[in-house]
Amino acid sequence: MFANSRTIVSAQSDVHDHLAARVARHLAEPFRKPIGEPSRRALATALERWQQAGGAPLILDAGCGVGESTLRLATAFPGHFVIGVDQSEKRLTAGKDWWESEMPPNFCWARADLVDVWRLLQAEAVPVRRHYVLYPNPWPKIGHFGRRWQGHAVFPALAACGDYLECRSNWQVYIDEFAQALTLVGRPAQTEAWHPTQAMTPFERKYAASGHGLWRCVSERSPG
Ligand SMILES: C[S@@+](CC[C@H](N)C(=O)[O-])C[C@H]1O[C@@H](n2cnc3c(N)ncnc32)[C@H](O)[C@@H]1O
Repeated sequence: MFANSRTIVSAQSDVHDHLAARVARHLAEPFRKPIGEPSRRALATALERWQQAGGAPLILDAGCGVGESTLRLATAFPGHFVIGVDQSEKRLTAGKDWWESEMPPNFCWARADLVDVWRLLQAEAVPVRRHYVLYPNPWPKIGHFGRRWQGHAVFPALAACGDYLECRSNWQVYIDEFAQALTLVGRPAQTEAWHPTQAMTPFERKYAASGHGLWRCVSERSPG
């Protein structure tokens, strides 16, 4: 099962035809969906933990799943504080016996909807130094473009988050779209094939073990 993940099958072989128009619309029109109270509370608690820990440069692990990447980022960046966000309570609270070292002190997990979290971080001008969107759900059907982050109304808020922003996927089209959408909102973006030496997340491990190609998009801007 583990090394048996299917590659993405899609009728779409290139960037979605409506990408530019969709991003332009989302830039022009405010996104009016009310913020969910549970997300607001969960993020407020996480930001308090960050402040209590000293307010070190912040890392957002968006869609962290079971949280392996949160722990790896906290270990790799001991001078930063990492908030791992996922909507799945089950994934966040599942046993962490696969983590064989001591838990790092500089992280917390928050159960929240990213559609709220990205808008709150933008509205409150919370400075995020590094932002990771690792293996988001690809929604490969052409008609599901609006569910991919780059086709979603929250994209301008996502793109505003993080001096360093990285997205990884096993679907090259997703990464090409993500990069184009970033350039449309005024951020530089580079894409490349990604060959991890050590998997950072369970999905990365599963895809790599199944022989999938992996890609990533990286965007950097000056802090502040
Ligand atoms: C394909 S999994 C990848 C998980 C992890 N990053 C990894 O690579 O193993 C996508 C994750 O995004 C989370 N997710 C999807 N939409 C979300 C949303 N609106 N808010 C928060 N989490 C979301 C899902 O619960 C899921 O854990």
